[in-house]
This record gives sequence, structure tokens and C-alpha cells, in this order.
Amino acid sequence: MSPPPAMLCRVIFIVALTIPLVCCAWNATIYKDADFKSQSQDLQGDQDCVNVADDMADKASSINTHDNCVRIYEDVDCGGLSLEVKPGTASHFSLKNLHFDNMMSSIGPCLCSCTQQ
Ligand SMILES: *[C@@H]1O[C@H](CO)[C@@H](O)[C@H](O)[C@H]1NC(C)=O
Repeated sequence: MSPPPAMLCRVIFIVALTIPLVCCAWNATIYKDADFKSQSQDLQGDQDCVNVADDMADKASSINTHDNCVRIYEDVDCGGLSLEVKPGTASHFSLKNLHFDNMMSSIGPCLCSCTQQ
């Protein structure tokens, strides 16, 4: 038995409304030391750029992207040098190897194709 057209329409409407809002959701955990050690901070966002906590700014030495693709930035508000970090990126455990040790000030999504802002 197929659902009545009115219900189908409603489901499609809800899906269309929901997907763009979460299309760029990301989260990551940064650590002061290499190998995911020492003080950490969990960060999450969507299309937006998120600045790291004051006491973590320019101090992160490793990052766990929890299977997300994120772009890390040298300056606040996603400014300055940046680097894409995603599953498969070598040396997450040591930002030093990626030439981004003690530099990170903000994080955002890798690529955002949201149609609704
Ligand atoms: C973090 O992102 C991963 C991968 O997208 C997701 O599976 C997980 O639920 C997220 N965790 C939080 C706390 O949002």
C-alpha cells in the first residue's frame, strides 16, 4: 500500500527543508599536544566558522576530525593560511608534520554546498 499523496508531499517537503540545514555539519576535537594528548576542546559547526577557545588558540598540535572533512585556519574567523583535514589525511596526530603546529585559531567546513543560508 503506498502512502496517500498528501503525506508523501509532506515528507518530501520536510526532507527538502531539513537537508540543507545540516549539509555542512562537522565536528572535531583538538588537543594541545601531539598524539591526541593533553588539554582538548570539542568543536562543532555547520556552514559557520568557529573560533577555538582563547586558551587553545595557536596551541593545537593534533586534531581528531571524527570522520568529517574540516578546514583549519591560522587566524580567527577563518582567515589566513588554511589546510584541509579529512579522513585519510596523513599525520592528524601531529600537526607539526602538516606544518600547522601551534597555529590554529579557527575551524570551518571543507566545502559547503548549502543552498539555504
Ligand atoms: C561528529 O561527526 C561524526 C561524523 O559526521 C558523527 O558521526 C558524530 O555523530 C558527530 N558527533 C557529534 C557529537 O556531533
